[in-house]
This record gives sequence, C-alpha cells and structure tokens, in this order.
Amino acid sequence: MPEEENSKAARHHGHSDFVVVSNRLPVDRDSTDNSDGGWRRSPGGLVTALAPVMAAHEGAWVGWHGAPDEVLEPFHHDNMDLIPVPLSAEEVELYYEGFSNSTLWPLYHDVIAPPEFHRTWWDAYRTVNKRFAQAAAGAAALNATVWVQDYQLQLVPRYLRQLRPDLRIGFFNHIPFPPQEIFAQLPWRQNIIEGLLDADLIGFQRASDAANFLRSARRFVGAGVKSAQIQVKDGDGKVVHIARAAAFPISIDVAQIQELAASKDVIARSRQIRQELGNPKTILLGVDRLDYTKGITHRLKAYGELLNDGVLTVADASMIQVASPSRENVETYKQLRDEVEGMVGRINGQYDTIQNTAVRYLHHSYPVEEMVALYLAADVMLVTALRDGMNLVAKEYVAARGDNTGALVLSEFTGAADQLKSAILVNPHDIDGLKSAILRAVNLSPVEAARRMRTMRRQILSHDVQRWSREFLSTLETEAVPV
Ligand code: G6P
Repeated sequence: MPEEENSKAARHHGHSDFVVVSNRLPVDRDSTDNSDGGWRRSPGGLVTALAPVMAAHEGAWVGWHGAPDEVLEPFHHDNMDLIPVPLSAEEVELYYEGFSNSTLWPLYHDVIAPPEFHRTWWDAYRTVNKRFAQAAAGAAALNATVWVQDYQLQLVPRYLRQLRPDLRIGFFNHIPFPPQEIFAQLPWRQNIIEGLLDADLIGFQRASDAANFLRSARRFVGAGVKSAQIQVKDGDGKVVHIARAAAFPISIDVAQIQELAASKDVIARSRQIRQELGNPKTILLGVDRLDYTKGITHRLKAYGELLNDGVLTVADASMIQVASPSRENVETYKQLRDEVEGMVGRINGQYDTIQNTAVRYLHHSYPVEEMVALYLAADVMLVTALRDGMNLVAKEYVAARGDNTGALVLSEFTGAADQLKSAILVNPHDIDGLKSAILRAVNLSPVEAARRMRTMRRQILSHDVQRWSREFLSTLETEAVPV
C-alpha cells in the first residue's frame, strides 16, 4: 500500500488485530448473575471457535446487543472487547425483521415463503451496514483481519474497504446462496454482489453456494471470474482487487458435545426423559428453530400418516418436537406457529392415550445439557429441512452417539448432507418417501445403524468448528495469486 494511504489509515485505526462482525454480539444478558457485568456467553459453535483466536489477538467483536433503542459503551468480557452497535426500534423492524428476515432469508432459502421487496427496508439495511462497518473500522488495528458474518451484513465488506483499505477482510455466509435465477429477483442484486466483492475471501457452506455466487457475480456485475477468483477491475480495465469464493462447511464444538454425552448427569437425564414419555419403544426427535425452512409440517404430516396407517402406534414410537421461538414479530413465523400447533393438536387429539403421547411439543429453547440428553434419548433424529445452509443439529446428534446407535433421517437440502452421506437421506417434499425413511430408521438393524453411525462419526470427529475457523482464516491470510 502507498505510504500516504498507509498513514491515512493509521490515523483512524483501533488496537485489535482481529475483529469479528456479526448481527448479534456473542453474549446474552443474564439477569440472574451480576458477577460478570450481567452478561454471559451465548451458546453456539461460532463463539467457541473464535474465543481462542480472540484471546490470542486482543480481539474485538462488533455486534448488536439485542435491545432496541439502547446505546452501550464498549466493554470487556471473556477476553474479548465487545463493541455494541445500537439499533433503534424502527431499524429492528426495517433492517432485521424486514430486509434481513422477510427479504433475504426467504429469497436465499428457495423462496419457500415469498420474499417482500420494500425500498424503506433496503435503505435501513444500507444505513445499518454502514454503522457496523464504521464500528469495525474504529476497532481494527493497522493491517488487521476482519471477519464479517452472515447475510445481515453483506454490504459491510464494501463500506469497510472504503474506510480502511489496509484491512484484510473475510466474509462467511451461514445460509445458502441462491441460484442466479432466484437471486435475479432482488432489485438490489448488483449492490449486494458489489458489497461482498470487496472482501478478500467469501466463504460459503456448500460448493454449490459458492458456484451460485460466482455465476451471479459474472452476470450482475460483469466481474471476471476465473476458477474461484473474481477479478475486480477499475474503469481502465486494470485489476484492482481479487476476491476468492470457496466452500468452508461449518461444524460444531465436538469436544463439548462428546463430554456432555459422557457425563453421568446427562445420561441419567436421558433415561428419565424416556420414562417420563411413557417408555415408548422408539423415540423420534426433531429440534429446530420454529422456522418455515425446517420442514416441521412435512415431518408431522408423515408421522401422522404412519399413525393413521397403523404401521406405528404411540406406544411404539413417540415424537418429541422442540421448536425454539424465533423471529416472533415476523408474520410468516406467526402463521407457521399457528399451523404447527394446529397440526400437533389434531395428531395428539386423535392418537394420544392416557399413557402415551404422539407428539410432545415444546416451544422453548433449552440449555445444551438438556439438548444432549434429548440426543441420547432419541433413537431416531429427524432433520427434514426444505433448505438449510448447514444444520448443526444433525452434526450434534452424531457427535453425541458415542456407542454408534441411533439413526439420522436427513434432508438432502441441508448443507450437512454433503458431509453426512451415510444418513438416511430424504426429499422432505416426498411424503411417501419420508414415511418409508422414518420406518426404515425405526426398524434399522443394530448392525446397519452402527455401520452408518461409525462413518458419520469419523467425518464429524475430524471436522470440528475449530478446524473450520482455522481453515477459513489461514486461507484468508494467504495472498491470492492471480490465475
Ligand atoms: C441462522 C442465521 C444466523 C442467525 C440464526 C438465529 O442460523 O444464519 O445469522 O443468528 O439463524 O436467528 P436470529 O434471527 O434469532 O438471529
């Protein structure tokens, strides 16, 4: 970088060599505990993977703290500088519930729900992305690495590059990237591609997501794409920047899940769950955010029909469905809740006995200990998403099954299906196919179950979320060599 630019950037820089930017900060307010400033680390693999990198680099994390209309000073927690980005109540509505979750989310998930396009939402998305970029620019040291996360922040690489040309910028998209023909609907498709292209490395869950992005980059901004490189040119046709796009499938904190799965308390709790459920022969389990991408209604339909056909009874096979509350102000999510709860009510009304229930429906989120107890109790795990960037529940189930028992029914429309090829793979739209897959899982011989589980565990145990972040960051740190 020329001397002059270098010193210009230096005038504004902060002190962190490594900065993560995500919509939400990796902490939740803990009203029961004020010993650590009233915050506690949120559950989830991303923060686990990045915490050691943070500690080693005086890292900073930029994100919204979850409360609208509240401005907070940066604070230190868990060896990280946390930099809260304020959002007004109106911005939560327009940028988060609107553009992020009613435009991009349905558009990027195969238009399962119709995306809405509103110019006021787009304006708020731009304003908020700029604010996140400014906060990151203020935190990053000269030549620092900044890693931007997910679809809520696709314009941050561009705004950040304008403010701080010295930075190395990575972006990771946790959700699918849609085929060009669907992405084409977005009125601001060119701005989104340009927003991302100022990153040095753009990571996706699946190779097909990266390929979709490259096609859109070629088509909508006329970028020169050679293998996985996108060459951004100035007006004279000179290459000014090279962005790379590739797949980095995310994973889970395998060690944590394995440790809990081996703990006496968790094992005892899993036995208690089976007892309390009326001791059915088989427990089927679904664990999802209550989201229309997850195929919960398809799963309930297939299970209800199996009870109706008389091939399963509630004493044979009881289902637990954890549906954690999500995006409850968004209309499509309200409708889904009504639909799911209506179906559960009808199935239970028809098939429950005093002793056994068909579907034990739980509209809560649970701590990871309880989740692992559920994984241990479940003979069959049902992951029937209509589209899912990855699906970490499938990976957690496999990591928990240390004795190689249990069966995973897995939608081929999840990123996880690329890694878990020995699952019982299904197309959840095919209700008859889904019914036979569930029956096959219920009746799987112990030998076949062990063979499948062993293969899946080999994959998961050697690919944890720490490896994922190492691989992304080491690729980001290597200079792109023009092809
Ligand atoms: C998906 C997205 C994340 C998001 C999460 C929960 O996994 O990729 O970015 O944080 O859903 O959704 P929420 O809207 O509650 O943050």
